[in-house]
Amino acid sequence: MKVGVLTGGGDCPGLNAVIRAAVRKGSFHYDDEFVGFLEGWRGVMEDHIVPLNLDAVAGILPRGGTILRTSRTNPAKQPDGLDTCIATLKRHNIDALIAIGGDDTLSVARKLHEKGTKVVGVPKTIDNDLAGTDYTFGFDTAVNIATEAIDRLHTTAEAHNRVIVVEVMGRDAGWIALHSGVAGGADVILLPEQPFDIEKVSETIRQRHGRGRYFSIVVIAEGAKFATADPRQGELVTQAKGKDEFGHVRLGGIGNALANEIEKKTGYETRAVVLGHIQRGGSPSAFDRMLATRYGLKAIDMVHQGEFGSMAALRGNSLIAIPLAEALSKNRTVTPEMIAVAEGILAPIETPEHVK
Ligand code: F6P
Repeated sequence: MKVGVLTGGGDCPGLNAVIRAAVRKGSFHYDDEFVGFLEGWRGVMEDHIVPLNLDAVAGILPRGGTILRTSRTNPAKQPDGLDTCIATLKRHNIDALIAIGGDDTLSVARKLHEKGTKVVGVPKTIDNDLAGTDYTFGFDTAVNIATEAIDRLHTTAEAHNRVIVVEVMGRDAGWIALHSGVAGGADVILLPEQPFDIEKVSETIRQRHGRGRYFSIVVIAEGAKFATADPRQGELVTQAKGKDEFGHVRLGGIGNALANEIEKKTGYETRAVVLGHIQRGGSPSAFDRMLATRYGLKAIDMVHQGEFGSMAALRGNSLIAIPLAEALSKNRTVTPEMIAVAEGILAPIETPEHVK
């Protein structure tokens, strides 16, 4: 078969390992020919194609980024964009397409499948928020990077009697904040799932310092929100006006906003550190290399078993094919069970006396 591969959306450690595994198994075991589309759906729209053979994937297992590069191009937003993609695939006699991406990239895969394209999806996001799969590759690497940063910030926070707020990625789900916060021994962990009350956060820090600990580490997801009058809602802090082609605003800045408020309310010297794209860069962890390899192998098997319109998903320790529709049905937010882990280990976020 002639198989096309693309990577779309934000990059993620392990993308190259998926590409390599699919190409190696396809070449060795199925006698497939591969081509890569450059920069996600943009490459399919604009017909940017490269050969993807065993030589092209040699040595890429430990490399971050993606040899196919990526973009947030959304063909469904362009007039005739989906038909343009279908025409490109026909022109190159592509029998099947492997789309590696998050919910945005896979939503395009689903639309193309509904128009008859033979496509399978591989879930990718460091945020770990795709429904239907227990873990996405890249998440483990991001958590390791964030945890190491928190360890380092501990020593400098302690030396200076400071509060340090660490902003990590996580648009709709606080998986990175929760895992790195617990693994890094943070004192407060704030997630997009639960808008937070600044008075309570400040009081928790005051009480900790009252117990003789003169520094604190607060881990906050970029999508966390200050609570408003309606406790289920909250205000997102964004960097720029305008949205990308999939309708997302650019998040970032909640860490600084929170640090300013904590300093104002407690009087403790406070700094903010935004980890940002450091979490997405560099070499994947061994766990992610293994997981990404398994996803790549599963994707090429799905192509040969005709499981189109499906996504490879990790359930327990098995890889299975699930409908793209199921994966795209909702975001996989942090579960109550995992929130209980953080709540179990942390001092409760107290209601201050003056608002009781
Ligand atoms: O891929 C998901 C993500 O890492 C989000 O956590 C973050 O909000 C976004 O990507 C950042 O994207 P960009 O690379 O476009 O700044």
